[in-house]
Amino acid sequence: MGLGSVLIYSILALLVLLFLSSYSPFNHHSSHRHRRLKLRSNFTFSLSHSHHPPVPFDPLLAELERNREDKQWEQQHIHHSHPQLHHHDDDSAPAHESQPEWEDFMNAEDFINDEDKFNVTSRLLILFPKIDVDPADSFIDVHELTMWNLQQAHREVLHRSQREMELHDKNHDGVVSFSEYDPPTWVKSADKDSFGYDMGWWKEEHFNASDADGDGVLNLTEFNDFLHPADSNNTKLQQWLCKEEVRERDSDRDGKVNFKEFFHGLFDLVRNYDEEESHTDSHHTDNPMDVPARKLFAQLDQDGDGYLSDTELLPIIGKLHPSEYYYAKQQAEYIISQADGDKDGRLTLPEMIENPYVFYSAIFNDDEDEYTDYHDEFR
Ligand SMILES: *[C@@H]1O[C@H](CO)[C@@H](O)[C@H](O)[C@H]1NC(C)=O
Ligand SMILES: *[C@@H]1O[C@H](CO)[C@@H](O)[C@H](O)[C@H]1NC(C)=O
Ligand SMILES: *[C@@H]1O[C@H](CO)[C@@H](O)[C@H](O)[C@H]1NC(C)=O
Ligand SMILES: *[C@@H]1O[C@H](CO)[C@@H](O)[C@H](O)[C@H]1NC(C)=O
Ligand SMILES: *[C@@H]1O[C@H](CO)[C@@H](O)[C@H](O)[C@H]1NC(C)=O
Repeated sequence: MGLGSVLIYSILALLVLLFLSSYSPFNHHSSHRHRRLKLRSNFTFSLSHSHHPPVPFDPLLAELERNREDKQWEQQHIHHSHPQLHHHDDDSAPAHESQPEWEDFMNAEDFINDEDKFNVTSRLLILFPKIDVDPADSFIDVHELTMWNLQQAHREVLHRSQREMELHDKNHDGVVSFSEYDPPTWVKSADKDSFGYDMGWWKEEHFNASDADGDGVLNLTEFNDFLHPADSNNTKLQQWLCKEEVRERDSDRDGKVNFKEFFHGLFDLVRNYDEEESHTDSHHTDNPMDVPARKLFAQLDQDGDGYLSDTELLPIIGKLHPSEYYYAKQQAEYIISQADGDKDGRLTLPEMIENPYVFYSAIFNDDEDEYTDYHDEFR
């Protein structure tokens, strides 16, 4: 290769680079003022609380999402749980059947992105007085937004429980008996190491603990508690949760939690919970880590036998299994911090209208990258 051709190649490479950079998606990106709102197209039955989905802010959009989910659910239910029912079209499933209702889905997204049909400003005008209730003073504080989020979350959770209940209530009498109850398919198909499988979550003891009035069957309230024990007020269920915690942490199988078992696992959960609550960071203390851990352990160990029993875990069970309230509050604090223009810790209607996508992106973007994106875009 001669000097001439090297030169030509270099020039070509330079031109390609220039061309690419002028069409770089990054250049485009920063000029986007209006991001396209997205519906979440996902539902999971994960018992893990490490990835809690954002609470929907706007009930109208939550409803669109629920409709979408219901369709997915039907698809999944028909095709996976009861293949025998549809055996005739199993292998030769026509193309339109194997497709989710993308059209409906796209229509819903088009709807919320069409400013004439779905006007974010007027939505906020409608929603503001519904959130600003305690007291109705033209400010939304953390408590009001938390209660609002919690209301939305409970509705969502109950809807899913109801849908799941229909699946189990085989004789359609509105209650689920233990013999009717069948673990969800993912439990059956999951291998035995996966989360939740080995925890007795699907066992009769759990069922009985959920049966608050002890009539042998679960109504919707009880079934919802069964699926979401951390959000239940049922003390039997709280106690069952503590027993499960002991079972899970008790690596030497003596039926109790010793300090080592407490320190490696439970204590971190409690500490993380407390840190997020108080926004302090105790990682910077000079104490060796196990001093606060030993202190808490001693506090919890009521009978002083050096072990924690299930009942001794009751005071911290809410920190080990955070409830919807915890997430509702976390999201309220986050949203307020993002939209609170004058930094007085509460939101006015103008502040919300000024930052509409804070409310709507938190709901639509389950994708962390996009979450951080709008910090740049909407400031
Ligand atoms: C739902 O989300 C989970 C993780 O958040 C992901 O692993 C899964 O593939 C998603 N399912 C669908 C149908 O998008
Ligand atoms: C959205 O609603 C607000 C208030 O109701 C109104 O001022 C604005 O013009 C509307 N925007 C569109 C695009 O219709
Ligand atoms: C659950 O309760 C039923 C009575 O409703 C009882 O027969 C059964 O033994 C209980 N099971 C467990 C594991 O406690
Ligand atoms: C279910 O039963 C409980 C009593 O255990 C009752 O408080 C609750 O209202 C009932 N829920 C429904 C939906 O009927
Ligand atoms: C639990 O009780 C509190 C009041 O004690 C009530 O506000 C809350 O709605 C109850 N939660 C459930 C899930 O019933």
